[in-house]
Amino acid sequence: MRATPDADAAARLQQQLGARELPCAVQWYAEIDSTNAELLRRVRAAPGAAPQCLVAGAQSAGRGRQGRSWIDTEDSALLSLAWPFAPGGAVGALSLAVGVWLAQALQTLGVDAVRLKWPNDVLLRGAKLAGVLVELADTTAARWAVIGIGINLRRPPGVDSAAALADVWPQATRWRVLEALLPTLLQALPVYAQAGFAPWQPTWNALHAWGGAEVRVLEGARLRSTGMARGVDADGCLLLDTGHGVERVHSGDVSLRRAHD
Ligand code: BTN
Repeated sequence: MRATPDADAAARLQQQLGARELPCAVQWYAEIDSTNAELLRRVRAAPGAAPQCLVAGAQSAGRGRQGRSWIDTEDSALLSLAWPFAPGGAVGALSLAVGVWLAQALQTLGVDAVRLKWPNDVLLRGAKLAGVLVELADTTAARWAVIGIGINLRRPPGVDSAAALADVWPQATRWRVLEALLPTLLQALPVYAQAGFAPWQPTWNALHAWGGAEVRVLEGARLRSTGMARGVDADGCLLLDTGHGVERVHSGDVSLRRAHD
């Protein structure tokens, strides 16, 4: 479904974000199909557009990695940010950097138990708290990265498999999260455009949830390799110690499991 932006809510959001000057327009939708899909439509239709951010209360067709859908929890913080890189810009590790920025933003709110699972899951106490999906649209003017983030604020009753921010921060609201997250993203993105992932590689490794763990790398259902997860390199590749050497695994279409799960 398509929805029109809710101007009142956008004004409330601006109010929540305070007098802070953001170099980016922010719009709020009570419900939309997918904030990522909407921004991709926009930048394809108007390649010279400015950076922009969409926030939604709910999505009817939320998108996840590898063509999966993203099911919002009862109460989620959902946002997408469209950012123009130079045509052909190297953005391969952007989703890993976004995980670091989200963890850092949550730290400023006193939530410091967040860890990262390669390539782009954000975990709290070992369970998935947030997902990051970066989608690209190449135009003649720019390589647009649409950065989508979904964070579970609260869990529907009876669902134990995911983590929720309210587990460690009962007063969590999407506005407080956005207030911390948006400026962090907007400050970091120009640095990423110049320097790539390298400045955040040490922090990613410090937050690595499965560092030193035996893992399996899967391509769909097919087992590609096994080994010990060592961390990531400056390109965001997973360094997998197979016992016969260190393999660099590109994120592409692979996923990671613990060896015995
Ligand atoms: C994943 O873990 O598979 C990534 C999930 C990303 C979900 C977010 S929610 C906001 C944005 N809009 C979407 O349709 N998806 C991303």
